Amino acid sequence: MKPLGITGGPLFECRDVHYAYQGRIPALRGIDMTLSRGERIAFLGANGSGKSTLLSLLDGLIFPDMGTILYAGRVLTEAAFLDEAFTLEFRKNVGLVFQNPDVQLFCPTVREDIAFGPLQLGMDETTVKTRLEALVETFGISPLLDRSPHQLSVGEKRKVAFATVLAIDPHVLLLDEPTAGLDPLTSTHLIEMLATAAGTGKTIVTATHDLHILEDIADKVYVFGQDRRMAACGTPAEILADTALLQANNLIHRHSHHARDHRLMRTPQV
Ligand SMILES: Nc1ncnc2c1ncn2[C@@H]1O[C@H](COP(=O)(O)OP(=O)(O)OP(=O)(O)O)[C@@H](O)[C@H]1O
Ligand SMILES: [Mg+2]
Repeated sequence: MKPLGITGGPLFECRDVHYAYQGRIPALRGIDMTLSRGERIAFLGANGSGKSTLLSLLDGLIFPDMGTILYAGRVLTEAAFLDEAFTLEFRKNVGLVFQNPDVQLFCPTVREDIAFGPLQLGMDETTVKTRLEALVETFGISPLLDRSPHQLSVGEKRKVAFATVLAIDPHVLLLDEPTAGLDPLTSTHLIEMLATAAGTGKTIVTATHDLHILEDIADKVYVFGQDRRMAACGTPAEILADTALLQANNLIHRHSHHARDHRLMRTPQV
């Protein structure tokens, strides 16, 4: 089998994707998009607009009710994931950091949680140890290694959840609200790390409603509408300049400040 995720052509293709929870709570209605290799993409939308749902669909955790999602030319269906070789390749190449870190962490210790994915995917113990040490250094989580993930603060859990996915070193990072609950220093570190990862050719898809980080994390922004359809797509600068679009989709308050101010409010890098 050709290595998925590093072949030519589009990486993900969504064609008229519809999804409703329990068949009756609509989350997405007719999504069309093509995500290319090495792109940095933001899913921007208000609460409940379907960002997490689309990330779950891209990660093959749920499947469209109608329409199709292709990954490296292969249709993502339950049947596709019955093929063990495909599942292994897909899980090595695509990693999702969940919005809720509690979903991601289930081992008795942080150390085991970080090592779990790589060991499960057949990586040798020496490589796993090296990766673990590098991630512990990056996130400054060495005091947490022997603690239970469920006894950590929300921000600590989020860092560990990130580390569990980065330990697999996937080509595609799907990130659901990565900076929520992180302190400014950790948030800045994370954004810098994502920039480095993008520099190595990784594809990074980030769901957020934080206008401040948009220009740092994405080259292309999809705006999720309140009607569960895609409201717009453009560069961060184009989207941030479109006050009417942002207001219509509950991303800024009417009569408060403009999107432009969000950029002016950013702390200058010195
Ligand atoms: N497990 C679920 N069961 C039923 N409905 C759900 C479930 N998860 C999400 N929904 C519904 O699907 C819609 C889209 O939710 P989703 O979580 O994808 O939005 P989101 O854009 O990620 O929101 P947020 O910014 O709050 O994270 C919402 O109307 C939500 O109520
Ligand atoms: Mg969400």
